[in-house]
Order: sequence, then structure tokens, then C-alpha cells
Amino acid sequence: MDITPLTAHLAAEVHGIDLSRPVPDAIRVGLAEAFARYGVLAIRGQTLQASQMLEAVQIFGPVFRQHNTRFALPDCPEIHYISNQDSFPDGRRYIPGEGWHTDHSNDTRPPKATVLHAITLPDHGGDTQFANMTLAYETLPAATRERIDGLFGIHVYQSSHSTRKLMNLPDTARERVPNAVLHPMVRTHPDTGRKAIYINPIRIEGILGLDHREALPLLDTLLEHSTQEALQYRHRWLPGDLVIWDNRRLLHKANGDYDMAQTRYLYRVMLQGDVPA
Ligand code: SIN
Repeated sequence: MDITPLTAHLAAEVHGIDLSRPVPDAIRVGLAEAFARYGVLAIRGQTLQASQMLEAVQIFGPVFRQHNTRFALPDCPEIHYISNQDSFPDGRRYIPGEGWHTDHSNDTRPPKATVLHAITLPDHGGDTQFANMTLAYETLPAATRERIDGLFGIHVYQSSHSTRKLMNLPDTARERVPNAVLHPMVRTHPDTGRKAIYINPIRIEGILGLDHREALPLLDTLLEHSTQEALQYRHRWLPGDLVIWDNRRLLHKANGDYDMAQTRYLYRVMLQGDVPA
């Protein structure tokens, strides 16, 4: 197994392993260490059925039950699909993952990681961008760090302030998705001990104890600072990529910047996280 960093602060690519076959213990340990170190791993050259992906990702931890079951694969429902070929009920095309976010932060124990496996890619575009929220926290002015330490974000399925609209939850899924949860706006990573900003533009409805007139500009400032180019890694997908990233210290976003006559289709699975603290 070869592991090569992709930027100075985030992400590495992994060559020389085949996740469709049993993975030896030493490789499992190496992958888990690399994930803790780099935050994003692009494991190249995989050809996995959904069930093989499901088994392989458990190297990194147990599977999280995703919320919107309308995207579940019928024969392997823990795996959902990401596709540019779905539409909202009013006919507009639905591009999953556009706009900066972290996955399922409206859960009491949001997923620690998300994994995508490229099945069909457009010829150009459709990159996924990542923002390093640990560095974002560490490079904030001290006064801003002090201001947000101890604040709690109110996370819901769909923030009324977000311009990005999500597909509605089916009734069966709605029952098990909390109406609103509170999470610290600064969380400490359980493996590295480093603090990271934890916000989510599509799901944060407000900040506990702050008026919207104060909360919304603060969230905008944090987002602008966090997503500056110097804090990003931009993943250009290659056929066969399996990419795992750490939701506890990253924001990410998809790009709908490609020819929509072409299909972009990936498998997605998430891994169980802890209560953010
Ligand atoms: C997601 O936000 O989970 C999907 C990201 C992507 O499609 O690149």
C-alpha cells in the first residue's frame, strides 16, 4: 500500500490495495492511521459491488443509518446513491451535496465519516471540495475563537436560511429523525484532540441564545473564513475512486458544473459518530 499526501494540510491518495478482497490486519491498521492523519483518503482503482463496499468501509467503523431512505439501494439499503438524474416534484433537477455542509449534523450522533465510490462520472467537472475546519478554527482571530467557544448551533433537517433545498424525508424516515439538536460550534476531535469549527449552512437554524441578527452574520463570517482556498482540498474524481472523509473536521460540497446530459452516479455510505463535544 502506498500513501501519498495530496496537500500540505489535508488528504492523501492510496494505491496498491484491492478492497474487494479480504484486507489483512496490517493494512486495516495502516488505513485507519492514515484516515486519522489526513482526514480524506482517496483509495484509487476500486471496482466494488454495493455489498463489497459495505463490508470494506467497516475497516473504519460501524455503519450509520442515513436519513433519507428514498436514496437507498433496494438490495443493499445501508448504501445510498448520489445521482444527478433525480428531480424535485416540481421538475427541477436535484444535485445532491451542492453548497458547503457536513453530513447529517441534525442527528444526535452525526456520522463521523462519509464514503463515496465512483460508479459513473462525467467527462469533466463534478469535483468535491473539502474545507479544513481544524485549520479554520486555529487561524481565526483569538477574539472570534473566544466568542464561539461555548456556543451551540441549533441543527434541523432543513435550515430555513439555506438557499439549498433538500428532498423531503419520506414519512417513515421522518419518525426517526430528530426535529432539532444542539451541537457545540467548536468540537474537539476524539483522535487528534484538536478543535474544529462545527457549523453546517444547510442545517443550522440558529445559535442558542443569540438573536438571528447576530447569529446569521457570525455564521457567514465563519463560513467565509473556513472555505478560503488555502484551507481547501479539491478532489477531482477518477474512475474507481473510493473516497472517505472525516465529517468531524471538514465541510464539503459537490459541484454541479458539468454537462447534465452525462450521468454522475456514486454509492454513498456513512459511518457512525459520537455525540460532538
Ligand atoms: C455529499 O455531499 O454527500 C455528496 C458529495 C458529492 O457528490 O461530491
